[in-house]
Amino acid sequence: MSTIIENEISSKTDAFVSLERKIKTKKARFGVIGLGYVGLPLGLTLCDAGFDVTGIDIDTNRVDAIVAGRSYITDVREKDLQKAISAKKFRATTDLSEIRSLDAVSICVPTPLRKTKDPDMSYVISAADAIARELRSGQLIILESTTYPGTTEELILPTLEAGGLRVGEDFFLAYSPERVDPGNSRFSTRDIPKVVGGTTPRCVELASLLYGSAMKQIVPVSSTRVAEMVKLLENTFRSVNIALANEIALMCSHMKIDVWEVIKGAASKPFGFMPFYPGPGLGGHCIPIDPLYLEWKSKIDGFESRFIGLADKVNSGMPRFVVTRAMELLNERGKAMRGSKVHVLGVTYKKDISDSRESPALEVIKLLGSLGADVSYSDPYVPSLKLEGRSIDAVEPSADVLGSCDLAMITTNHTAFDYPAIIRNSPLVFDTRNATDGMKAQNLVRL
Ligand SMILES: NC(=O)c1ccc[n+]([C@@H]2O[C@H](COP(=O)([O-])OP(=O)(O)OC[C@H]3O[C@@H](n4cnc5c(N)ncnc54)[C@H](O)[C@@H]3O)[C@@H](O)[C@H]2O)c1
Repeated sequence: MSTIIENEISSKTDAFVSLERKIKTKKARFGVIGLGYVGLPLGLTLCDAGFDVTGIDIDTNRVDAIVAGRSYITDVREKDLQKAISAKKFRATTDLSEIRSLDAVSICVPTPLRKTKDPDMSYVISAADAIARELRSGQLIILESTTYPGTTEELILPTLEAGGLRVGEDFFLAYSPERVDPGNSRFSTRDIPKVVGGTTPRCVELASLLYGSAMKQIVPVSSTRVAEMVKLLENTFRSVNIALANEIALMCSHMKIDVWEVIKGAASKPFGFMPFYPGPGLGGHCIPIDPLYLEWKSKIDGFESRFIGLADKVNSGMPRFVVTRAMELLNERGKAMRGSKVHVLGVTYKKDISDSRESPALEVIKLLGSLGADVSYSDPYVPSLKLEGRSIDAVEPSADVLGSCDLAMITTNHTAFDYPAIIRNSPLVFDTRNATDGMKAQNLVRL
C-alpha cells in the first residue's frame, strides 16, 4: 500500500506541482474558449472565486459587447459583468494566441448537428487545433461542450499530443460537462455539482482542484468517457421522458382526457414518479441534439439504440400536431387556416430566456405560414426573428392585436405574459404549454 502511495507521490511531475500550487494560491490564469450560454457564466464563476479570467471568442460582436460591459445572456447580470471587468479580473479577446499565457482553459464551443443529423465537430476541432498551436508544459485543458463518449480521448488527446508533450506529465486533460439550466435562478453554475473525468488520475485531480475552488460540489468519475456519457444520459433521460409525456398528450387528446390534470394527479405520488410535460416540441441547443450524438456513436460502435430515435420521432412530430390541432379549432368555428390571422405568443424554446435556437415555435410559425395563415408574434425576449430569409418584428400583445386575430397560440409560457388579458382579448386561445393552468373560459383550449 505504502509503495503505491509513494509511486503516486513521486509521479507528480514539475508541471503538476507548479499548476497545483498556482490553483491553490488562485494565481492560475483561467481561460474560456467560447463565450456563450455556457462559457460566459463559467468564466464569471471562476472570476468570483478569485481567478483572473480571459474569455476568448471568434465572434467579434460578443467580445465587443463584453468589453463594453453589455451582457447578451439572460442569466448574466450586467452589473456582475461590469464589476468583473472594471476590477480587471475578467477580459475578453478574439486573439487565440492568448491561450499560451493561460494555465487552465475550458472549451465551451457549440456542438450542433449537421443537416444529416450527424455530429458537427468542426467547432471542437478548431478549438483543439488552436490550443495545440499554443500548448505548453503546465497547462490544464478541460472540454465542457456536450459530446459523444470518446471525444476527449479520440479527438482532443491526439491533437494535443501531436506536438510532443505528454498528457498527465506535461499537460493535463479532462472532460467536465456543463449542466447549466438557462433561466433557472435556483441553480447557478456554482451550485450545480460538477462531474469531472480525467485522461489520467493527475488530470482529474487538477481539474477537480480548479473547479472545486469555484463550485460547491465536485463529482469525480473514473474517465473522460464516463463523464461524457453522464451528460448524455441526463439529456437522453429528458428527451425520452418528454417524448412519453408528448405521446400521452396525443393519446389524451384522442380520448378527450385533460393531460395536464392527469400529470398533476400522477405527480402527487411521493415516490416513483417524476413529472414531465408535453408541449409544442423540443428546443434549445441540448435536448433535441445531444441524444443524437449518443445514437450516432453507439451505432458506429455496433449498438443500435431504440429509445433515442423513437423519442426524437415523437418530439419532432409535435409542432405539426399542434398546428393541425389549431387548424381543427379554427375549422370548428367555421374558419380555414388559410387567410386566418394567428398570433403566436412566445418564440423561445422555454420560458423566461432569450434563446430561440431550435425552438419549436419557429417550426410552428413556418407551418402556419405554409398553410396560408397570416402570422404575427409577441415575445418580450426576442424583438425580431429571421425565418427562411425573412425578418419578422415582434409586436406587443395589446388588446387591439389580440382582438384582431382569429387565434392566439401560446407556444412559450413566459411569466411576463398577462394570461387573463390574453384570454379576455382574443376570440380563441390555444395554449400548448398549460400557461393558463387553472383558468377557465369558453374561448380557451389547452393541448
Ligand atoms: N446552452 C445550454 O443551456 C447548454 C447547457 C449545457 C451544455 N451546453 C453545451 O455547451 C456547449 C456550448 O453551448 P452554448 O449554448 O454556450 O453555445 P453558444 O453558441 O451560446 O456559445 C458558443 C460560443 O463559442 C464561440 N466559438 C465557436 N467556435 C469557436 C472557436 N473555435 N474559438 C473560439 N470561440 C468559438 C461562438 O462564437 C459562441 O460565442 C455546447 O456543446 C452545448 O451543447 C449548453
